[in-house]
Amino acid sequence: MKVKRLYINTIGCQMNVYDAGQIAGVLAPLGYTQTDAIESADMVVVNTCTIREKAEQKAFSFLGRLAKIKAARPSLIVAMGGCVAQQEGEAVLKRMPHVDLVFGTHAIFRLPEMVRRIESSHCRIVDVRLSETIETDRPVDGPLNEGQVSAFVTIMRGCDNYCTYCVVPHVRGREASRHPDRIIEEIRMRVDRGIREVTLLGQNVNSYGNKEGLCSFAELLERVNAIEGLGRIRFTTSHPKDLSDELIQAFGKLDKLCRHIHLPVQSGDDDILSRMNRRYSSSAYLEKLARLRQVCPDIAVTSDFIVGFPGETDRQFQRTLELIEAVRYDGLFAFMYSDRPNAPAAKFSGKVSESVKKERLQALLDLQQTITREKHEAMVGRVRTVLVEGPSRGLDDSTGAGGSPKIRWSGRASSNHIVHFSASDAHSANKEILTGEFADIMIEGAYAHSLWGRRVQGSMGAEP
Ligand code: 5AD
Ligand code: SF4
Repeated sequence: MKVKRLYINTIGCQMNVYDAGQIAGVLAPLGYTQTDAIESADMVVVNTCTIREKAEQKAFSFLGRLAKIKAARPSLIVAMGGCVAQQEGEAVLKRMPHVDLVFGTHAIFRLPEMVRRIESSHCRIVDVRLSETIETDRPVDGPLNEGQVSAFVTIMRGCDNYCTYCVVPHVRGREASRHPDRIIEEIRMRVDRGIREVTLLGQNVNSYGNKEGLCSFAELLERVNAIEGLGRIRFTTSHPKDLSDELIQAFGKLDKLCRHIHLPVQSGDDDILSRMNRRYSSSAYLEKLARLRQVCPDIAVTSDFIVGFPGETDRQFQRTLELIEAVRYDGLFAFMYSDRPNAPAAKFSGKVSESVKKERLQALLDLQQTITREKHEAMVGRVRTVLVEGPSRGLDDSTGAGGSPKIRWSGRASSNHIVHFSASDAHSANKEILTGEFADIMIEGAYAHSLWGRRVQGSMGAEP
């Protein structure tokens, strides 16, 4: 079979990163192997995101740049997948004559058939069919990068929550969960190939299995926790309204479950939360966090925020800052509100000006920066167990004991903090030896976005 080169450009969230692996996996039997060199590619896939306006613009501008390459090499297959493809469908073919294939978020398993047709008859295809249930669920063993220790595994797709600002329910369809047996099979396959950590993905993992009457999310976690060879489990994203006591208790029970939760709150004001259709109040959110911290006192908490939602007043924005101060997040993502197609808030009155949105975003980020610095400084002098992801960019130019070169490594603590460290023992000069291992690190200092320290041997009161 002729070897063909596949270039995938992924824009967007972890779900798209996972989908990119699936795309590569289903196209492998057709002879496609992934390349980083777009100039020599036989097929280019742009895996798109439409959650905010900027991401959509990025997708179209990349696609626009491909026109020249396609003109020089007409045999190149140009495909657009993901959320923008789902949203725009046929319109992409009209707008961009050099695009051969537009495939939506539910069409990945139909890709091989479509690509074969394009290869043989140079036709143009659009497939944006959405289905209520997951029709094809085969664990696909997507390619792993060299030294990769962590992988995403989708456990469900779609969303039924209809937050008023959000495009996801319109482009990813109705919520549907994968069967737990398929999920376990896929994780086992990955662990057999060296993966030590999985992140379970879904728009709202807390409602996993409810609709289909499968097991609960906490029960799924228990099954994943029992997989031999797996070291750590993470998950994202959790909707606060569905955070169950059963899941909260899991943080006290499951040894592989990382001590971190990403719990997007979006706003600290109850009127805004209600107009966002989030279906919880700020006090209910704080209560759930208090229960989590009771079960797992050092759990790291991160969140998403939207500033400048239509109608947001200065006072309402202040309540968001107050909530951030009350929670003292370990980190957060903040976004300026943008109108999205089909999302009801696009029609809400009281749009906030770009300049006010920018000011609010800056105030929020400044506040969090102070909190992050204080929290990082409080970690100095403590030992954290880090899953080593590989050498940091650039070698230390110093040498360690016995004249062996010192290597700077990086990994993540259970709390998801990035930790850099130096290890001077002779073994660690060989990069395979530490990658994928757990190392105890004495934290000695803090950068704005990460920590650094030194490797200590044995158990010195290390925390997971
Ligand atoms: N405008 C700005 N931010 C948005 N998000 C989702 N939709 C919008 C929008 N229309 C943010 C939310 C969500 C994160 C993934 O993206 O904070 O949690
Ligand atoms: Fe969008 Fe809300 Fe669903 Fe998250 S829970 S994907 S914000 S609709």
